Amino acid sequence: MNRTNQFFDKIFQNFDKVSDTEKKKVFQRLSTLWYSQNIIIENLEEGIIAIDNEGMIQGINKKACFLFSIPRNSEGESLSKCIPDNDIGKTILELVNSSDSETKLLKDNENERILQINILPIGERGRIIGTLIKAFDITKTYESAQKLKRAEQLASLTTLAAGVAHEIKNPLGSISIYVQLIDKIIKKNMDNDCQCYKDFKEYSDIIKEEIGRLEDTINSFLFSVRKLELNIEDVNINELILSTISFLKYEIEKNNVSIDIKFDKDNLILKLDERYIKQALINIIQNAIDAMNENKDDKKKEIYIKLKTIDNYAVISIKDTGTGIKDEDLNKIFEPYFTTKRHGTGLGLTNVVRIIEAHNGNITIESEYEKGSEFIIKLPLKQENQKFLNTDLLDYA
Ligand SMILES: Nc1ncnc2c1ncn2[C@@H]1O[C@H](COP(=O)(O)OP(=O)(O)O)[C@@H](O)[C@H]1O
Ligand SMILES: [Mg+2]
Repeated sequence: MNRTNQFFDKIFQNFDKVSDTEKKKVFQRLSTLWYSQNIIIENLEEGIIAIDNEGMIQGINKKACFLFSIPRNSEGESLSKCIPDNDIGKTILELVNSSDSETKLLKDNENERILQINILPIGERGRIIGTLIKAFDITKTYESAQKLKRAEQLASLTTLAAGVAHEIKNPLGSISIYVQLIDKIIKKNMDNDCQCYKDFKEYSDIIKEEIGRLEDTINSFLFSVRKLELNIEDVNINELILSTISFLKYEIEKNNVSIDIKFDKDNLILKLDERYIKQALINIIQNAIDAMNENKDDKKKEIYIKLKTIDNYAVISIKDTGTGIKDEDLNKIFEPYFTTKRHGTGLGLTNVVRIIEAHNGNITIESEYEKGSEFIIKLPLKQENQKFLNTDLLDYA
C-alpha cells in the first residue's frame, strides 16, 4: 500500500471525526490526483481498459478506443456491447472470461496490426474487483524482429550454400580434366569408321558446355558472397575500357556486334581496382550482347561506350540496341537471382553494384522496352580521403 492509500484509509476510518475543512482538502487532493492520473493514462502509448466483475467498462483510454474501435466515453457500458463483433473483439472477451493472467499476441488482419495483449486481475484488499486489459501495438518491433530473423536465416543459408558451392568446384575441376582427356582420345579416333566417335564428340561438347555453365554459376555465386578486397591503384580508365573490349573481342565478333567508343577525356587516371572494374564492365557488356541477341527484328547490334567527367565524377555510359527492360522489371534487375534468361544466374548486376559501390561510385540505368538500355557508372575522380567500402555479405573465402 503506498503512502497516498494509507492517507485515504486513515481519513475513511476516522471520517466522522474529520472536520469539513479537512474533508474539503482531501477532496481537493483527490480531484487533483484524479485529473493528473487521468491525463497520464489518457496519453499512454498503451491501450488500457479497466472493467469490473460484471464486464462494465470502468475506465478506457484514447489508445484503447483507437486500437479496438470502441467509441469514446464508453465508461459505464458493457465491454461486450462496445467492442466490435470481429476476431479481435471475440478473442478479447474470451481472454477476459478465461480470467487467467495472460500475455498474448493478436494479429489484427483488418488493420494490419500486431497487438500484444495483457490481461491482469485488478485486486483491492485481497479481492478481485475487475480486470485490466492492456494492449500494445508492436507491429514495428515485431516486423523488425521478423526481418532480423529472416536475415539471420538467409545468412546461415548463404554460408551453407557457399560451402556447398566450394565443394562442387573441386570435383568439377576433375570432371573437366577427364573430359579433356576423353576429348583427346576422341580426336585421335575421329578418322575411325565407327560412328560412335562422332557421337562421343557431340556428347563431350555438351558436357563441356554444361561444365562451363556450372562453373559460371558457382563463380558468380561465390563472388557475390565473398569479401571484396580492393587493390586500389592509379589506373588509366581509357586503357582499361579498351583492354576490356579486346578481352571480349571473340564474343563481340562472334555475335556481330559493333562497338562505338567516344572518350571526352584522354588518359583519365582513377584510383580503383583494375580487376574488379574490368569484371563489372565485362558483365554489363555481356548483358548488352545477350539483350541484342534477343531482339526479334534484325536491328543493328551496336554498343556505344562513352567516357566523360561531370563534377567530381568520371562517367562511363554503356548503351545497347537490345530488347530494353520492361518498366516492371527495372527495379528488380539489381536484385540477386533476378534473371529473365533461361540459363542466367541473376548475379551479374548484383556483383556490378557491389563493385561500383565499393569504389564509392554508383550505377543507374535508363531503358526503353524494345529500344535498348543504357547503364551509367559514376566513379569519383578523387578517392584519396575516402574509405573504400567493404560490401561483403559473408566472410567466406
Ligand atoms: N543491357 C540489358 N538489356 C536488357 N536487359 C538487361 C540488360 N542487362 C541486364 N538486363 C536484365 O537484367 C537481368 C539480370 O542481369 P544479371 O544480373 O546480369 O543476370 P543474368 O545475366 O544472369 O540474367 C537480366 O536477366 C536481364 O533481364
Ligand atoms: Mg549477366
